Amino acid sequence: MSDILIRAQGLCCSYDNSREHINVLQGVSLELQRGESVAVIGPSGSGKSTLLNLLNGLLVPDNGLLEVFGRDSTQLTEAQWAELRRTRIATLFQDGNLIPTLTVSRNIAFRAGLAGLQTHDGDTLLEQLGIAETAHRYPDQLSGGQRQRAALACAFAMQPDLILADEPTGSLDYATAERVVPLFFDAIRERKLGALIVTHNPELAQRCDRILELQEGALSPWVSPASS
Ligand SMILES: Nc1ncnc2c1ncn2[C@@H]1O[C@H](COP(=O)(O)OP(=O)(O)O)[C@@H](O)[C@H]1O
Ligand SMILES: [Mg+2]
Repeated sequence: MSDILIRAQGLCCSYDNSREHINVLQGVSLELQRGESVAVIGPSGSGKSTLLNLLNGLLVPDNGLLEVFGRDSTQLTEAQWAELRRTRIATLFQDGNLIPTLTVSRNIAFRAGLAGLQTHDGDTLLEQLGIAETAHRYPDQLSGGQRQRAALACAFAMQPDLILADEPTGSLDYATAERVVPLFFDAIRERKLGALIVTHNPELAQRCDRILELQEGALSPWVSPASS
C-alpha cells in the first residue's frame, strides 16, 4: 500500500452566491504521507476550512488533481466518499460534529460502529482527554472545550488513516490544550495516521512535521518571521 495519503496538485475552488464569485483556492498543491502531520495556518477567510472539505469530499474542486489513498477523486462516487468518511477519514469540524441526540459514550460507540469497529476504550479515551465525567451527557450539556475533546474521542475511536482537523484546540484553555496536544501526536505516531491540522495554536503547529501557510489561494512552506 502506498504511503501517500493525499496528493493534490493545482486545486482550485470557488463559491458563487447571488452577488459574487469568490475564488478561494487558486492552485493548492500538497502531499501528505502516512505518519506525517502537517499544520496549515493562514488568515481567517483564506480558505483553510474549504481545503479540508475538498480533501474529505464534501466539496468538489473546480480544477486540479486530487488523489486520496491513491485514488483519483473524480473516480470516486458519493457513496465511496461517504464510506471513506465513515472508515478512513476523520474530520474534526470547528464546531465538534457530535450527534445531538446521543450521549458522548454513545457518540463514540456510534462512530466506531460506522467504521465497522466495536469500541472498548471509549471510557479510557475520555479519561485521557480529561472529560470522563461527560460520558453520559448530551452534546448540548457540554462546554465548547468538552465538545471539542468528545469529537476528538470519536475521531480516535473510528481508527482512521487520516485526520483532518479544523482548529482542534480552538476552544481549549492553555492547560487543557497542553494535555490534549500530546495525545494527538501519540495517536499519529502509534497508529501511523496522517494529519492535516488547521490551527492558530503555535505549539500545536510547531509540533507538526511541517507548517504550510495558505495565502492568496495557495499553500507554501511557512517561514518564521524570526528566520527571515
Ligand atoms: N458556502 C459558502 N458560500 C460562499 N462563500 C463561502 C462559503 N464558505 C466559505 N466562503 C467564503 O470563502 C472564503 C474562505 O472561507 P473558509 O474556507 O471558511 O476560510 P477559513 O477557514 O480560512 O477562515 C471566505 O471568504 C468565505 O467567506
Ligand atoms: Mg475555517
